[in-house]
Amino acid sequence: MGDSAEVVLEASGIYKSYAISRSPREVVKGVSLTISRGEFVAVMGPSGCGKSSLLHVLGGLASPDKGTVSLQGVDLYTLSDRDLAAFRRRNIGFIFQFFNLLPSLTAAENVMLPYRLERERVWPLRGLGRDRDAKARADALMTMLGLRGLQGHRPDEIAGGEQQRVAVARALVTDPAILLADEPTGTLDYHSGRSVLELLLRLSRRDGRTIVLVTHDVRTAAYADRVAIMLDGEFREMVELGRRNVHDTAPLLERLAAHGL
Ligand SMILES: Nc1ncnc2c1ncn2[C@@H]1O[C@H](COP(=O)(O)OP(=O)(O)OP(=O)(O)O)[C@@H](O)[C@H]1O
Ligand SMILES: [Mg+2]
Repeated sequence: MGDSAEVVLEASGIYKSYAISRSPREVVKGVSLTISRGEFVAVMGPSGCGKSSLLHVLGGLASPDKGTVSLQGVDLYTLSDRDLAAFRRRNIGFIFQFFNLLPSLTAAENVMLPYRLERERVWPLRGLGRDRDAKARADALMTMLGLRGLQGHRPDEIAGGEQQRVAVARALVTDPAILLADEPTGTLDYHSGRSVLELLLRLSRRDGRTIVLVTHDVRTAAYADRVAIMLDGEFREMVELGRRNVHDTAPLLERLAAHGL
């Protein structure tokens, strides 16, 4: 199966700094990462170590000071802003800690939005089945994620765990090559958090989705096949957990302890 080794994402020598009161502070310091199709990779490290900054660079949301990011063979930061935005919409699904659902839209409309925007671009004629298509996709995804019956509800009318599943559905609606998740369970209780993680796991194992998740939580990271331990802007170690069916934290805790965490 040559497919299993197909590289989806390749980041090389990523540096990122922010200008804080005029002096630049480096928060990502030379990170490199190669991810194959269907892998579930976590980046774990303490608050402020640069995880979100790195994820934004990997997802084409913030250009690095140095280094390259190639997604499905496309060198992201050689694209124009417009082409990058289009590429991102078509190929990357983002899941954020605070869901970022639009409050005035229903759950189903939130799910459909990226697909509609994308179809608008490639198929600018109005009507002609576009909406029916978007609805069918949203319905199928929401059913798969256990959200049937909530299609017409607005975000403030449904629970946090359900909102996060709506956000996962929205991230999947354009059928992206890669899903990037930033603390997707951060605000959820244990059971809702676990159901979102199990969903991500299913997407990776059953559907061959590629997932990069950043978290400071060891129980969340323990779901991944590989965990990069990040400290002070650098990857200190790549822990190979393998495809496990039990997501105990012991092997990861041992490696974290070795780095004084
Ligand atoms: N837009 C910004 N401007 C200036 N500094 C920033 C900006 N974004 C992040 N930083 C700083 O960069 C460092 C890394 O931030 P980042 O958000 O990447 O960390 P993190 O590992 O995601 O943390 P957390 O686990 O708390 O989300 C922090 O010190 C943060 O204050
Ligand atoms: Mg963060």
